[in-house]
Formats: sequence, C-alpha cells, structure tokens
Amino acid sequence: MARTPPDQVFSLRVEMAVKLGVLALFMLFPLIVGYAVWRESAYQKVGEPVAQPIPFSHKHHAADDGIDCRYCHTTVEKAASAGIPPSKTCMNCHSQIWSNSPYLEPVRASYRDDEPLRWTRVHDLPDYVYFNHSAHVTRGVGCESCHGRIDQMVKVWQAKPLTMAWCVDCHRNPTPNLREPANVTVMGYQPRDGGEGQRVKDRLKINPPTDCTTCHR
Ligand code: HEC
Ligand code: HEC
Ligand code: HEC
Ligand code: HEC
Ligand code: HEC
Repeated sequence: MARTPPDQVFSLRVEMAVKLGVLALFMLFPLIVGYAVWRESAYQKVGEPVAQPIPFSHKHHAADDGIDCRYCHTTVEKAASAGIPPSKTCMNCHSQIWSNSPYLEPVRASYRDDEPLRWTRVHDLPDYVYFNHSAHVTRGVGCESCHGRIDQMVKVWQAKPLTMAWCVDCHRNPTPNLREPANVTVMGYQPRDGGEGQRVKDRLKINPPTDCTTCHR
C-alpha cells in the first residue's frame, strides 16, 4: 500500500487552509458591510428623540415662551462646552409657576438636596475629537446649522450626522452657514439678502482650518 509522503500531506493542509481562509472572508463580508452601515446610521442616532427623566420641552420654553438659548446654555459663547443649566436656573421661574406640578418634583428635589439632575446626553463626540462652541457661535455659525430646529423639538434629537466628513465639508465651504453673529440663536433665520454669509466671511476673515490637529490634538 502506497503511503502519502509527508511533504504532500503538508501541502494539502496548506491548500485546505487557504480555501477555508477565502471562504471565511466571503462569510465575513456581510458583517463588514453591516458594521459600516451601522456606524453610519444606527450608531449616529440621527433623528431619534431622546427621552429625559423630566419632560422638559424646548418647544415650550424656546418657541412658546421665547427664552433665548443663552439663558440656559450660558457658556456657549465663551467656552468649548455649551453647558447644561443647573436646577437653580429652572427654579428662577418654577418656584413661581407650576411650583406644585408633580412633573417638576425631581427639579425641586435636586435644588433642595443640591444634587445635580441627570440628563441623558443627546450629542456625544468620541473623546479623540476636539470641538469648541465659542469658536463657531462667535464667528456666525448658528445653533440651527448643527442642531436643527431645536425650538420645534419636544424631545431633543441629533439633527446632523456629526461625522468627520460633515465637519470638514463645512470647514471647506462655510459661507452658506454664516450669518451676523448677533443672530446665532435665532431659529428659522432668514438672511436679509443672499450676500450676508460672504460679507460676514470677509469682515471677520473666516477661514476654518482643515488640518488634522484642528480637531485631533
Ligand atoms: C429653559 C432652559 C433652556 C433653554 C431656553 C434652552 N435649552 Fe437647550 N437644554 C436645556 C436642558 C435642561 C437640556 C437637557 C435636556 C434635554 O436634552 O432636553 C437641553 C439640551 C439641549 C441640547 C442637547 C444637549 C445634548 O445632550 O447633546 C441642545 C443641542 C440644546 N439644548 C440646544 C438649545 C438651543 C439651540 C436653544 C435655543 C433655541 C436651547 N437649547 C434653549 C435647557 C434649555
Ligand atoms: C424663564 C422661565 C422658565 C425657566 C427658566 C424654566 N421654565 Fe419650565 N416652564 C416655564 C413656563 C412659562 C411653563 C409653562 C409652559 C406652557 O404651559 O406653555 C413651563 C413649563 C414647564 C414644564 C411643564 C411641561 C411643559 O413643558 O409644559 C416642565 C416639566 C418644565 N417647565 C421644566 C423646566 C425645567 C427642567 C427647567 C430648567 C432646565 C425649566 N423648566 C426652566 C417657564 C420656565
Ligand atoms: C458647528 C456646529 C455646532 C454649532 C454651531 C452649535 N453646536 Fe452645540 N454641539 C455641537 C456638537 C458637535 C456637540 C457635541 C459636543 C461633544 O460631544 O463634545 C454639541 C453639544 C451641545 C450641547 C450639549 C452640551 C455640550 O456642550 O456638549 C448643547 C447644550 C449645545 N450643543 C447647544 C448649542 C447652542 C445653544 C448653540 C448655539 C448658540 C450650539 N450648540 C451651536 C455642534 C454645534
Ligand atoms: C456649519 C459649518 C461648520 C460645521 C458643521 C463645523 N464647523 Fe468647525 N468651524 C466653522 C467655522 C466657520 C469656524 C471658524 C473659523 C475661523 O474662525 O476662521 C470653525 C472653527 C472650528 C474650530 C476652531 C479652529 C481654530 O483653531 O480656530 C474647531 C476646533 C472646529 N471648528 C471643529 C469642528 C468639529 C470637530 C466639527 C464637527 C463635529 C465642526 N467644527 C463642524 C464651521 C463649521
Ligand atoms: C473639522 C474637524 C476634523 C478634521 C479637520 C479632521 N477630523 Fe478626523 N474626525 C473628526 C470627527 C468629528 C471624527 C469622529 C467621526 C465619527 O465618530 O464618526 C473623526 C474621526 C477620525 C478618525 C477615526 C475613524 C473614523 O473615521 O471614524 C480618524 C482616523 C481621523 N478622524 C483622522 C483624521 C485625519 C488623518 C485628519 C487630517 C487629514 C483628520 N481626521 C481631520 C473631525 C475632524
């Protein structure tokens, strides 16, 4: 009986391994595509209203009651972060109006016990990205360019993908998104005429950087 020489056994095994490897790649392909799609859509949560522990409504407060964004997001023009208001800010009004509403009990408790409210974050860039609000709003990029019509939202959702391509696209061509900086918190803004973006760009010498260290440092 002829025996298979040892080196032939080895090469058969190699051939088998290569075939299995190719097969595995084919089987993984849908997973790789699936991962890419998930990164772009589900993970980015665009358009999904986020539930909060208290039924706070931007539609009520910003549109119906006409409270400016900066009354609550006090650091948006000065710092990287816009800031979320402490319960003290809510109590400025709610110690007078709706002061017995059960909806507001968590706010009163938070104020009484000096325990911050725990809101669920809506926007959250990865830690390796550097973002700065003041760099945008003092240069005439309106809140709605990045957050959409917050004043129409009962629950806030992420309006834009917040991907790198989204940031860089605007950095390459900011003009359509520029307005007089005094108007950055106006929602549904209508520029006086088509030239406003260009005038603001020229006057403030706006030229957003696109080198990697701008956003990754
Ligand atoms: C009366 C206070 C108040 C006013 C006025 C207000 N906000 Fe807010 N904002 C909050 C609170 C509280 C939260 C956290 C709860 C939530 O997300 O709904 C919040 C959350 C947000 C978020 C989501 C933050 C996150 O977690 O990513 C954005 C964006 C935002 N506000 C933008 C605006 C804009 C733009 C305006 C003006 C049109 C505005 N807000 C006016 C109180 C306010
Ligand atoms: C400048 C005044 C003012 C401030 C500050 C304010 N509110 Fe209000 N809030 C109101 C008024 C006015 C209403 C009644 C709205 C209506 O019925 O049109 C209201 C209503 C509410 C309601 C009832 C549900 C609703 O939306 O109608 C909740 C809950 C609420 N506010 C939470 C908060 C929280 C949380 C904060 C702090 C982040 C806050 N408010 C800050 C004026 C204020
Ligand atoms: C150029 C785009 C852009 C503009 C303009 C902008 N935001 Fe934001 N905002 C973001 C991004 C991106 C985040 C998430 C930041 C993070 O995760 O570190 C964010 C987060 C927030 C938050 C959550 C708290 C924080 O600072 O992380 C609030 C509140 C907020 N924005 C309010 C505002 C308001 C109010 C304005 C207008 C006065 C505004 N934003 C203008 C892009 C923008
Ligand atoms: C809608 C337009 C727009 C979008 C979207 C946008 N930016 Fe900007 N960005 C600007 C403008 C305009 C400036 C101001 C440039 C200037 O002062 O010359 C700026 C400035 C900056 C600066 C400060 C640069 C410096 O050194 O002065 C950083 C950091 C930055 N952007 C990061 C981001 C990141 C990260 C994102 C995405 C999450 C983003 N931007 C999305 C328009 C935009
Ligand atoms: C204007 C801001 C901005 C600039 C400029 C920028 N990035 Fe990014 N980058 C981002 C943001 C925002 C993310 C996060 C995207 C996400 O979560 O989907 C990111 C993610 C990444 C990632 C993670 C992989 C991914 O795509 O999710 C890498 C790698 C990266 N950037 C490399 C670079 C390099 C290299 C450069 C220079 C050529 C650069 N970035 C310039 C904003 C920027």
